[in-house]
Amino acid sequence: MIHVPVLTKEIIQYLKAEPNKNFIDATFGQGGHTLAILEKTKPDGKVLAIEYDPILYRSFKLNPNLKKRLILINDSYTNLEKIVKDLNFGPVHGALFDLGVSMWHFKKSKRGFSFQTNEILDMRINPYKEEIPAYKIINEYSEQKIEEILRKFGEEKFAKRIAKAIVLQRKKKPILTTLELTKVIERAVPRWYKKQKIHCATRVFQALRIAVNNELENIKRGLEQSLEVLFSGSRIVVISFHSLEDRLVKQFFKEKAKENILKIITKKPIIPSKKEIIINPASRSAKLRVAELI
Ligand SMILES: C[S@@+](CC[C@H](N)C(=O)[O-])C[C@H]1O[C@@H](n2cnc3c(N)ncnc32)[C@H](O)[C@@H]1O
Repeated sequence: MIHVPVLTKEIIQYLKAEPNKNFIDATFGQGGHTLAILEKTKPDGKVLAIEYDPILYRSFKLNPNLKKRLILINDSYTNLEKIVKDLNFGPVHGALFDLGVSMWHFKKSKRGFSFQTNEILDMRINPYKEEIPAYKIINEYSEQKIEEILRKFGEEKFAKRIAKAIVLQRKKKPILTTLELTKVIERAVPRWYKKQKIHCATRVFQALRIAVNNELENIKRGLEQSLEVLFSGSRIVVISFHSLEDRLVKQFFKEKAKENILKIITKKPIIPSKKEIIINPASRSAKLRVAELI
């Protein structure tokens, strides 16, 4: 299964990917964006790509022709500065962050990212490194803490009711699978909420994933570190998929603009065209923001 990369044309344009320039793809996924960048930076441009998921990382089959131009590392972009310095990679003309998880995680990882298939509630992007799978949060955290997670990372308006229902249910039997959790959510929320456009479990699943992987904190750290490896005129391009991420990126760019470190290139986020959304419905919530190092 191929992850269809989103906003690729716009990424190439805003990164100013041209022959012989070097870029960082901080979120390699299945490599769609990296391959597009490598195509534009022929013959000698390089990409340093980072992917935190060890299984996804291993599944990529590197075309021998690209060996000299693609360096793929299994690590977190929160270590970006060290990775770049250890490899002596550069000069770096731009960095791309395509946030969140890949379609592969929802459809293939079997780690419970989606409520549409019945799997163990794990949700760790790197199960070898992160210690707390989602089922531990659900079965061991206090009701208050679960409510806080659902509110803070899911903006879930029924956080209190859902947290209460989770704690009541787990007293009877631990909640270990996506289906068990989804049923608890469906029983806890009002009927009208189940008729909304998005499924009533969507925000809870988003919140758990963010909490398990410490996603918002990591984004900040990754963006901060990218500033250390770029030079004046290099660009940071970020794609986010929900309002929490987008707000964070917008805020980060604003703060750094105030400090005269970044110039904001996109006053308003770039969104996919209607045509792209028809071809790739998963792109519908994508927002792209760009800033340039001063
Ligand atoms: C939206 S996908 C990227 C898709 C990619 N642009 C493509 O074309 O296939 C985001 C990827 O970032 C990875 N990721 C999440 N957190 C990460 C981190 N802290 N460091 C490195 N990669 C991370 C996820 O495992 C996922 O594969």
